[in-house]
Amino acid sequence: MLEQQAAMHQAMLAEQDAKIRETQAVVREREAVVREREAVVREREAEINALRAGRDVPGRITPPPGGDLADCIRAVLPQLDGWCSLQKALWLTELVTKMGGARIGEIGVYGGRSLIPLALAARDRPGATVYAIEPWSNSVAVEEATSEDNDQWWREVDLNKIKLGFISAVMDCGLAGVVKLIELPSDEARCAFQAMRGHKFDLLHIDGSHAEAQALADVQNWLPLMAPGGILVLDDISWETVTKARDYLRATCDVIGEVSEGSDVSYGAYRTRPALAEMPEAGATLLSEVLA
Ligand SMILES: C[S@@+](CC[C@H](N)C(=O)[O-])C[C@H]1O[C@@H](n2cnc3c(N)ncnc32)[C@H](O)[C@@H]1O
Repeated sequence: MLEQQAAMHQAMLAEQDAKIRETQAVVREREAVVREREAVVREREAEINALRAGRDVPGRITPPPGGDLADCIRAVLPQLDGWCSLQKALWLTELVTKMGGARIGEIGVYGGRSLIPLALAARDRPGATVYAIEPWSNSVAVEEATSEDNDQWWREVDLNKIKLGFISAVMDCGLAGVVKLIELPSDEARCAFQAMRGHKFDLLHIDGSHAEAQALADVQNWLPLMAPGGILVLDDISWETVTKARDYLRATCDVIGEVSEGSDVSYGAYRTRPALAEMPEAGATLLSEVLA
């Protein structure tokens, strides 16, 4: 009897041992799967880190919550590549806030330090569109000479990285529906806009090539694309190479304001005069004078 009971216990123990071994085998199998998956995750992390190191993937921009435009610009501006000062960014946004239109453009965007404030100021306006005209090309940037040091810097800067930073800033600031990229040199972009008959800018910020001929060409060639009474902003008006462009604007437009923030930073805003054809009364006066 006792022997029978002992044999039964032994059989039960053997059965339980077998079950434990089975369970242990399943656990080992699952551990192996987890280790495999951990290896895949580590591999992916390594790939992402390599991409970040090699291509310098930009960090995320974090606009503060809340609706105050100036606070938003104060927080976002230091996170953007470029040269626009806080004073100029706030001045640009004031121009946008005070003007009526919604068709804005910028020639020479770089990392968006002036374009993002313009777009933040315009984004709640119905139909707001901010055209970012910029080739992000080292060869275009030095097509026309400025100074040797300046040209050397533009030959070497990683404009692809700057472009990636700009695009991710546009997304982070929720401006993808407002900003339109025109990845062309200004002369080619102008031909495209001219072909879209009737398209006129309410505000255009010219901050592209600072070479004398190109700066002047940008002002002269883009003026006909301005809406009557539209605002043209020109950067670096105290640069020797930009003075011809500035003087052309002084002569052909009404000066809204010129700002100098010290020896290095200067800019001006100029209101285009309505063309005669768009000023029936003035046109009539002139015609009657001619006929008299
Ligand atoms: C001074 S940066 C612009 C800075 C920017 N607006 C800011 O406030 O930080 C000048 C930009 O003009 C671009 N550029 C140079 N030549 C150009 C051209 N022919 N057409 C359009 N953009 C040009 C350069 O690639 C460069 O990014």
